[in-house]
Amino acid sequence: MLDLANSLPNATHQFVHPFTQLAEVEASGPTVLVAGEGVRVTDRDGRELLDGFAGLWCVNIGYGRIEVVEAARQQMSKLPYASSFFGFANEPALRLAEELVRLSPESLQHVFFTLGGSDAVDSTLKIIRYFFNVTSRPEKKHVIGLERGYHGVSSAGAGLTGLSNCHLFFDLPLPYQHHIPSHYRYRSTYGSTDAEIINGSIDALQAKVAELGGSSKVAAFFCEPVQGSGGVIVPPEGWLAAMRDACAKLDILFVVDEVITGFGRTGQLFACDWERVEPDLMTIAKGLTSGYSPMGAVLLSDEIYRALVKQVPRDLPFAHGFTYTGHPVSAAVALACLEIYEREQLPENAKVVGAHLLKGLEALRENPWIGDVRGKGLLAAIELVANQKTRAPFEPGLGVSQLVRKKAYENGLIVRAFADNIIGLAPPLIVSEDDVDQMLERLARAIHAAKIELDAA
Ligand SMILES: Cc1ncc(COP(=O)(O)O)c(C=O)c1O
Repeated sequence: MLDLANSLPNATHQFVHPFTQLAEVEASGPTVLVAGEGVRVTDRDGRELLDGFAGLWCVNIGYGRIEVVEAARQQMSKLPYASSFFGFANEPALRLAEELVRLSPESLQHVFFTLGGSDAVDSTLKIIRYFFNVTSRPEKKHVIGLERGYHGVSSAGAGLTGLSNCHLFFDLPLPYQHHIPSHYRYRSTYGSTDAEIINGSIDALQAKVAELGGSSKVAAFFCEPVQGSGGVIVPPEGWLAAMRDACAKLDILFVVDEVITGFGRTGQLFACDWERVEPDLMTIAKGLTSGYSPMGAVLLSDEIYRALVKQVPRDLPFAHGFTYTGHPVSAAVALACLEIYEREQLPENAKVVGAHLLKGLEALRENPWIGDVRGKGLLAAIELVANQKTRAPFEPGLGVSQLVRKKAYENGLIVRAFADNIIGLAPPLIVSEDDVDQMLERLARAIHAAKIELDAA
């Protein structure tokens, strides 16, 4: 065992944790990770854990990839920073933009770099507004998302997010932000067949656009190809393409948020590739740099970009951007990650090992707590219920998924506990079937231990 416990700070009051019950972490202290290798991380007590969530579904290439570290080191030594304002640029960022255009759906021809997913969504909202204003359609202001969707936490993006805990006490959503029900099959408002869910979603979108005054008032529809933080909710096959077509018919922009699904997670480089969907805009982050360095981006269609070039008076700049837009070190890291995705065929591994993971989770259904199993590639979840037959949820406040998460940690596995007793798995894309078997074994043990503790309470 490493004896690092006394050499590391606790800082429970000074460090404000995101998405954490702050009183709880003040009492318990933070969970401090100190090292990682492959699909495993080590905490400061020396405990080795299988990382079943790839950090925050981002460390797609796994930990300890020296070639990525070396790419960052070289770039940092050569040129650690270059502004992208006022026409400046740097080589890695230019090369990365080229690569992203080559690899992403055909409709996307230009790249605006951000620092992560939230500012990619926020930049998208601003670009859309700007686009319709400069093309003399200033009334196209409303945006529509899905309930249970997650689009980050910026002041505007958090309102587009369809999760109530992101709205409460933040005075969100904003008046121009609206939601339609998710395609959530297990608790569907649309019905249970693929056709009912797809047609129901299209009808709901059309009805929402009509309610807002028609297409002339609505700018865009946003969605994730698989809803992530809402509980890993996988739409029926054909849903994404159908929504894309519906948006084209409605004359509103179709924005795909691939912050989680991008870079191989669902078994294709982009989830849009499954149905050859060509969005007007796409947001990416996480897997772009595999979490080794912060970076996100908005990918834009040529039509939108050309309007920014041509329809703005010549003496006006595009007055949006960040000090770290196109950061050279992050761009060098991203280029090294792209090489790894391609060389090691990680999207393919996600497809193959993801199918193994899903099969293993299906086998856990014998446990009466498991109500639903779902996933695509290495993006999966189980939904825990009080009654498998009726799908009745557990009493709120029992904290079942948090208890399972805790027991999983004690058994050497990191999983994510979502609201509504959903447990998520999204391991690094380098994960092997053997690693997955170990994860499943530890998860089964954790659920068993949680059940014993709850039954005894
Ligand atoms: C789909 C989606 N969009 C946007 C974001 C926000 O990204 P970030 O946390 O990098 O700001 C996330 C983060 O999980 C996400 O899952």
